[in-house]
Amino acid sequence: VPVLTGIRTLYRCLPDGGQGDVHPVPAAALAWREGRVAWVGPEADLPPGWRDEPREDAGGAIVVPGLVDCHTHLAFGGWRADEFERRILGATYLDIARAGGGIRATVARTRAASTEALVARCERHLREMVALGVTAVEAKSGYGLSVEHELRLLEVYDRLRARTPLRLVATLLGAHAVPPEFDGRSDAYADLVAEAMVPAAAARGLAAFCDVFVEEGAFTVAQARRVLRAGLAHGLRPRLHADQLSAGGGAELAAEVGAASADHLEHVGPRGIAALAAAGVVAVSLPLASLYLGQPPLPARRLIEAGVPVAVATDFNPGSAPSCHLPLALTLACTLQRMTPAEALKGATVFAARAAGLEAEAGSLAPGRPADFAVLEAESVEQWLYHFRANACLRTVVAGREAWRRPVSV
Ligand code: NIG
Ligand code: FE
Repeated sequence: VPVLTGIRTLYRCLPDGGQGDVHPVPAAALAWREGRVAWVGPEADLPPGWRDEPREDAGGAIVVPGLVDCHTHLAFGGWRADEFERRILGATYLDIARAGGGIRATVARTRAASTEALVARCERHLREMVALGVTAVEAKSGYGLSVEHELRLLEVYDRLRARTPLRLVATLLGAHAVPPEFDGRSDAYADLVAEAMVPAAAARGLAAFCDVFVEEGAFTVAQARRVLRAGLAHGLRPRLHADQLSAGGGAELAAEVGAASADHLEHVGPRGIAALAAAGVVAVSLPLASLYLGQPPLPARRLIEAGVPVAVATDFNPGSAPSCHLPLALTLACTLQRMTPAEALKGATVFAARAAGLEAEAGSLAPGRPADFAVLEAESVEQWLYHFRANACLRTVVAGREAWRRPVSV
């Protein structure tokens, strides 16, 4: 159906304006052709040429640009429910990691999993995501931690492209943790990432971004700088896991290397915020991870006041964020980070697209842009994120093609 009418409000989420400017069109219609938006505006103004086209009535639902989950660790083996319980009983994320659990536990399970099994698992999660209105996903490697295994995870993402309607962006996160083979030799491992992994991933066109986990127990700012500069030299744009468990200069480094985004940032300070603002880096908030690890919420209000665009993503992974429910992350961005529902929506559409390098392909609804959108059963974006439900999505469309529709209940 190339024309959708009866839309209570369509949120265009254009790049201009502030965090809360989502460009709503009340009583809207949307038309598309060959995968791209042909017309969007008030239904009363629908050009005569479009009136005779086959149309579907949205029945008063709202329409938003396809949601963009701009930070996930999609491919991993096993789960870590045991650690979930240990943290509840008082152990910290770092205690568990130091005892050989955490990321290393998942690395062992991921290396042991067959490529076919990893692809099948990812495909299942992507299906859950598309049913929630998500149309684009950034997926990081980071549970292989050797040249061979990191490339294998990136290949999993490459193979998924033929098996999902979603737009998929891959990120090399070889510097996620120091693998057991390099115990006590983190510099040598960072060099391996910079000198072997980055060139190999880039040469084979398997990644768009290079990411590093800057944290006590993971990588230092100096090591991250080496890895990210190597990425830049090979055409991989930098992103960073920064200031998640402590303030460690990650935000400042993101600004220095011109990163597309700095992610987590629960502990970012005034200097980090100023640096992000000056460099135009997107702050990616991950409220599920803050919640699961009991971190203070990201200071969204201070970032927004400083002029930093704030995106919202799931961080889907088996440790700090074992859920790929982006609308849940948005509701948490409202309650924990004090973002308004409109601000959260902008953070999961146009600003998320920017963090994932998809600004030309996703995040906004305007003529000429890809027809990626979600039809949501809610009377407004405020109602959607306030009345949290398992799934409010009625229909997901990617490049003009239906990727999911809620089954008709009897
Ligand atoms: O983004 N902080 C580092 N990496 C992940 C957690 C990975 C894991 O615990 O397996 C994160 O929170
Ligand atoms: Fe992460």
